[in-house]
Amino acid sequence: MIVPFLDLRRDVDYLGTELLDAAERVIRSGSYVLGQEGVLFEQEFASFTRTENCVTVGNGLHALELVLRSWGIGDGDEVLVPANTFIATWLAVSACGAIPVPIDPDPRTLTIEARDVAARVTGDTAAAIPVHLFGVPSDVPAIRSSLEGRSVRILEDAAQAHGASVEGAPVGGLGDAAAFSFYPSKNLGALGDGGAVTTNDSGMAESVRLLRNYGSSIKYHHEIKGGNSRLDELQAALLRVKLSHVEESTRLRAECARRYLELLTDVPGVSVPVAPSGDRSQVWYVFNIRHERRDELQSMLAREGIGTIIYYPEPPHLSPAYAELGYARGDFPVAEEFADKSLALPFGPHLRVDEQETVVNSVRRAALALS
Ligand SMILES: Cc1ncc(COP(=O)(O)O)c(C=O)c1O
Repeated sequence: MIVPFLDLRRDVDYLGTELLDAAERVIRSGSYVLGQEGVLFEQEFASFTRTENCVTVGNGLHALELVLRSWGIGDGDEVLVPANTFIATWLAVSACGAIPVPIDPDPRTLTIEARDVAARVTGDTAAAIPVHLFGVPSDVPAIRSSLEGRSVRILEDAAQAHGASVEGAPVGGLGDAAAFSFYPSKNLGALGDGGAVTTNDSGMAESVRLLRNYGSSIKYHHEIKGGNSRLDELQAALLRVKLSHVEESTRLRAECARRYLELLTDVPGVSVPVAPSGDRSQVWYVFNIRHERRDELQSMLAREGIGTIIYYPEPPHLSPAYAELGYARGDFPVAEEFADKSLALPFGPHLRVDEQETVVNSVRRAALALS
């Protein structure tokens, strides 16, 4: 049996005609950019994240970047980021002219911890971007306390964690602002690119609104030099449908993860994700195992038709894109070890039980052969 890493068509099939109906509604409306669907989605997503403002943008990278720009972060500023994240977190900082300052994550949660954040603050630190990686929420309340009295803003990178929460409060409203991605594979995914900023700071939300639309709130009147980063009406309408089912798909993801955790208990040499401590409620974005001989394991699974992905094989500090910062292997050992040993298995709300069993049987065979 072939088991693909992810088959997004299953999401579409599961929703029956709802997506097609929404798409037809937009196509027939004659309004395609910054219209009523976008307004309604912003209201619905603000309510989902329990924040006062949601501003949609073109993608998650722009969501991060426009928040930093709205705070006036730029040349010479330092922004604290995890050493292990998708490079977009760092690129948003660089796009503003600021410097990403990496922090090695906690080896269990893979998120950055308050004590490490506080230790890296200097007179030039303008912001910190905790990433809710793989759906595990960073402990933002603890990070906030550790930064008390310092003028360091907190931007949550919530691209992989729609619906996760800390102490019962959803991500999106834990920091000063949050950035979401709606890239198709995300827990809340569009059928194209999309992103959003959430915040309880209405003034900042208005700045992002200007920045995303040529610096303009009144047509052809330009208050600042903005850009173009808008969520189109088609994606907004499709996201409204997906959002109305996201709690159910989060539950199905958790079931899928629980089954893997059960099935993988006695597989030699394979480590599974560790749940974060009590207050943090995760939503599963992907399911990563770890193995000392990960590359061989991945090849063996591929030969049996099992699709896998590495999130991410090259930490940003070792990528050519960031050679100028002068980091070397060994500087962030937790991030590097994860990059070397982790492997994401096929995963999703609609992965079948028999497919999961097939995956685990293949993992077991490969792991035994490698032990
Ligand atoms: C942690 C993280 N931050 C930011 C982004 C950027 O989102 P987008 O691809 O929508 O620009 C992603 C998306 O892959 C991500 O995983």
